[in-house]
Amino acid sequence: MARLSLALLGIIAAYHTIYALEISGSGGRYIILIFPGHGKATTIFKYGNETVLRGYIGYGKNAKREYNNEDGMLTVTPLRNGFNIKWETNQTDFEFKDCFEFQDDVHWFGGPQRKQQHWPLEKMEIDGSEAYVLKQLDNFSVAEYYWLTSKGVYIHVNERTPLFVDQNVHEPGKLCFIARAQAPYINRTRVLLEYDVIIEDNAREAHLHAIKNVLGKPSGHPNPKMVKEPIWTTWAKYKAKINDSIVLEFAEGIRKQNYSAGQLEIDDAWEKCYGAQEFDTSPEKFSDIENTIKKLKELDFRVTLWVHPFVDDDCHPRSEEGKKNGYFVKDPSGGDRATWWNGQNSHQIDFTNPDAAKWYTERLRKLQKNPGIDAFKFDAGETNYGPQPSVYNIDPELVPNALSKHYVETCAQFGDLIEVRSAWRTQSLPIFIRMIDKDSNWGIDNGLYTLVTTLFQMNLNGYPM
Ligand SMILES: *[C@@H]1O[C@H](CO)[C@@H](O)[C@H](O)[C@H]1NC(C)=O
Ligand SMILES: *[C@@H]1O[C@H](CO)[C@@H](O)[C@H](O)[C@H]1NC(C)=O
Ligand SMILES: *[C@@H]1O[C@H](CO)[C@@H](O)[C@H](O)[C@H]1NC(C)=O
Ligand SMILES: *[C@@H]1O[C@H](CO)[C@@H](O)[C@H](O)[C@H]1NC(C)=O
Ligand SMILES: *[C@@H]1O[C@H](CO)[C@@H](O)[C@H](O)[C@H]1NC(C)=O
Ligand SMILES: *[C@@H]1O[C@H](CO)[C@@H](O)[C@H](O)[C@H]1NC(C)=O
Repeated sequence: MARLSLALLGIIAAYHTIYALEISGSGGRYIILIFPGHGKATTIFKYGNETVLRGYIGYGKNAKREYNNEDGMLTVTPLRNGFNIKWETNQTDFEFKDCFEFQDDVHWFGGPQRKQQHWPLEKMEIDGSEAYVLKQLDNFSVAEYYWLTSKGVYIHVNERTPLFVDQNVHEPGKLCFIARAQAPYINRTRVLLEYDVIIEDNAREAHLHAIKNVLGKPSGHPNPKMVKEPIWTTWAKYKAKINDSIVLEFAEGIRKQNYSAGQLEIDDAWEKCYGAQEFDTSPEKFSDIENTIKKLKELDFRVTLWVHPFVDDDCHPRSEEGKKNGYFVKDPSGGDRATWWNGQNSHQIDFTNPDAAKWYTERLRKLQKNPGIDAFKFDAGETNYGPQPSVYNIDPELVPNALSKHYVETCAQFGDLIEVRSAWRTQSLPIFIRMIDKDSNWGIDNGLYTLVTTLFQMNLNGYPM
């Protein structure tokens, strides 16, 4: 065991090698690894006389033929209150897989936002054949690499891991972390599966440790007006049938009922074409937008605008500008066609390119000056709209979720009245993060029940606002 710096406890039977490591001065936190001759290794984490976590590590496609670590793929490093487990190989056809067992008396928290937001987390199914990345499918818009148990243990996976998660699907009763250098995780030169297992006295202590050391917390907060006063959206009442007179009718109706004004968000169908970032000023739409906004402000509303990160191909001259300057996300052969819910022939702006982000934000600043938009509702931001697999001109080990991170960081420049719906490693931003649209019924399948469970999920991921 070249790099496995554990004390050899002994060899039992012919093929079982047992290692145990105690962190000195840690009140009895230790790990026990039992390697059979081949196949997965049983792993037990103990705290005092109690087993706090148990699982099987070191298996997966191809990995079994080498897993016993003669080539130094596994490193176990003691931390102050737990362990860092790291599997690494340059053989990119390898797959690592480490699984942990759910136990009857232990609850799990954290994990991804989903359409069916089960809680506690051990009830959730996650299919390990799909990459664990931010995507529109299944409302997977906030998903950190963080799992916490009621026994005071948390697991935080290194963001550079090409992560797939299987929970209760291929391996019922288990949570499995799988690392595979496979699309959308392209152009990687190693396979890495690395995570910390931190053991504290209880779940609260463990979560506080995670906030302090891995998740982080917001550096401020959104404008209190966003929770004190209502946010009204034209989408709820009119969908895409909006224009100057409809918006004013909506606003006047609200005030006539003596509701407080708050934020009035002009949603989809204000734009000349998707990506123009300019009002459609044709006579039946927003030919009088300056006056409309002036009246909304007289009625005491702040005015916000729904925006998205796409440019449709037929939205001239924006799509030509974007193509010419390389501002759109591409696939390995240079194709740049994106699809989203409003456009089958569109382009996803590449926010990992600072020039593209600037191109996008300059237009929004212009809308703030004239006709006087206060802030924006930034939609989408997940990684799935561009051509797949997407190529980015950044460190390949941060692909693809880095797109979402850069997008949300770009949005956050627009102050304390904005809202976003995607989040990845952006806990420090002091912005409002909305849940994906819920349905108006009670129940686990995106119903009102999931307002509560999604709130818990977002909180545990480090997004309390
Ligand atoms: C485990 O240790 C705790 C605290 O030292 C003690 O109260 C408990 O009885 C022990 N349990 C077992 C099963 O030995
Ligand atoms: C992988 O390759 C890098 C660079 O070629 C080398 O430094 C590293 O030691 C290799 N790692 C393993 C686990 O073989
Ligand atoms: C939520 O997930 C469902 C199921 O995958 C999908 O059809 C829907 O578009 C998602 N909602 C949003 C707003 O993306
Ligand atoms: C990146 O990965 C893609 C898809 O596997 C491949 O077509 C392309 O050649 C790779 N690029 C580099 C620079 O390795
Ligand atoms: C709104 O308030 C005014 C003034 O207090 C009152 O006359 C009116 O009836 C109220 N309208 C509604 C719909 O409650
Ligand atoms: C706005 O739309 C409504 C409903 O379709 C229509 O009655 C009205 O004339 C339109 N307003 C303008 C300014 O075209």
